[in-house]
Amino acid sequence: MKDMPIGIFDSGLGGLTVMSQIMKLMPCEDIIYFGDTARVPYGSKSQESIIKYSMQIASFLLEKKVKIIVVACNTASALALPSLRKKLSVPVIGVIEPGAKYAVNATRNGRIGIIGTEGTINSSSYVKEIKRIDIKKKAFTQACPLFVPLVEEGWLSHPITYLIIEEYLKALTKKNIDTLILGCTHYPLIKKAIQKKVGKKTELVDSASATAGEVLKILKKDGLKSERQRKARYQFFVSDSPKKFQHVGQRFLGKLPMWVKKINLEEK
Ligand code: DGL
Repeated sequence: MKDMPIGIFDSGLGGLTVMSQIMKLMPCEDIIYFGDTARVPYGSKSQESIIKYSMQIASFLLEKKVKIIVVACNTASALALPSLRKKLSVPVIGVIEPGAKYAVNATRNGRIGIIGTEGTINSSSYVKEIKRIDIKKKAFTQACPLFVPLVEEGWLSHPITYLIIEEYLKALTKKNIDTLILGCTHYPLIKKAIQKKVGKKTELVDSASATAGEVLKILKKDGLKSERQRKARYQFFVSDSPKKFQHVGQRFLGKLPMWVKKINLEEK
């Protein structure tokens, strides 16, 4: 079991931010990544669809003999995690619990902001998780649906990006928050621009690194951590053209050579 790969999935390539943190923290663990590039974005889709897609991807990853499944997508974590956990026999980790836990510990004034896709924000998953940990904490949310296309376009510090950040965060910054959860895979890439808007005193919580820490904890606890000392192997699967994934993926993972294969989940 220990030498089996970690499975990670996302609606597209944003989950590579989570993969990159796992690679840094656990350099010897093999990883199989699935990006549902044919059906992205998940952010605006119904819960029924997200559960169906997530179950299909999880079955594919289990065929590949993964020892744990990391749901790197915030929207899928918000809408499909309980269904996945109920049906799957391996541990399933989402990004919401680790991100919320980190934020609750980080806040000094007890006021936490959360930004994410419409699906994530409308589900109230982050708010519920924060309140479950500490009922006294105050949470304020804002959906930012235009951030994902801006990042995919590579407009990480474009003037338009600054304008849109200004518009979305206007109300949140008036709530006296001292901690802001970046509740979407893509947002760490515009972290600098967001930080500029909210100011240095507001701590930005990137669910990706909090999740990597949680994965390590679970692998150790369940005796699943690899003890091998060789370089890890990475495999990438997508549901649409591998070319764009390879190209834009470099933005998330750096110059790592990527072996990407297309899979048709509907035929499975
Ligand atoms: N991966 C999604 C998330 O973290 C963002 C992209 C999408 O909407 O599919 O919520």
